[in-house]
Amino acid sequence: MSRAPLVIANWKMNKTSQEAILFIDGLRKELTSFSRRVWIAPSFVSIEACVKLVENSSICIGAQNMHGGIEGAFTGEVSCRMLKEVGVHFVILGHSERRLYAKETNREINEKLKMAFSHHLTPVFCLGESLEERERAQEKLVWKKQLEEGLQNLTEIQASQMIIAYEPVWAIGTGRVATPEIAQTAALWIREFLEERFGRECSQKVAILYGGSVKAESMQSFMQQTDIDGVLVGGASLDLRSFIQIIEA
Ligand code: PGA
Repeated sequence: MSRAPLVIANWKMNKTSQEAILFIDGLRKELTSFSRRVWIAPSFVSIEACVKLVENSSICIGAQNMHGGIEGAFTGEVSCRMLKEVGVHFVILGHSERRLYAKETNREINEKLKMAFSHHLTPVFCLGESLEERERAQEKLVWKKQLEEGLQNLTEIQASQMIIAYEPVWAIGTGRVATPEIAQTAALWIREFLEERFGRECSQKVAILYGGSVKAESMQSFMQQTDIDGVLVGGASLDLRSFIQIIEA
């Protein structure tokens, strides 16, 4: 995976298909440079329409989640094959809201990662500590467990192809953004973990993003950090103007 600057929008449960289409139309008109890597994760029902709209552009469409199995009696779930068929490029896995509300475990996230790799879908693996864990100075223990269990049995080649998003739970949707130093410390720690587990080449290839209340104003200071290659944006990606400002920052 390339480490060229990457901006990913996670729209969560926002925007109908019509709203998504209007947004992407507008974004395509404004994005003059093809060199910017912009990835968007709309809701499942908007994916197909969005994929058609981004043809011949530098925008890629992804999913916010998927099931870890091939197919079967899993009411309400979406499989990797279904996503692949409609032209999805990437899938966000292990987002803290999935861990919290859907009680996703590291083991399940690991299954999903392997499924994504077997279908050539790029996983964006999310990890991060809660406020309580940080206050007890346990963040590194939390990262270690999430990485050890989440990335279990991946090959070095697979690990080199993923994207990692460090998203401290206390900074998501709270307006309380982590300092660039906190984000850099985490990213470096994650890179060192990857080096120890999968080798130096892998650790240098993986793009590591920061996520949590990112705004255009804070964008530059994150991008100046050596080990941060981009951002995962929730709230500020919903408004076209603010999202363009982030991309251009
Ligand atoms: P936020 O969300 O930018 O609204 O904090 C980030 C995320 O959940 O990925």
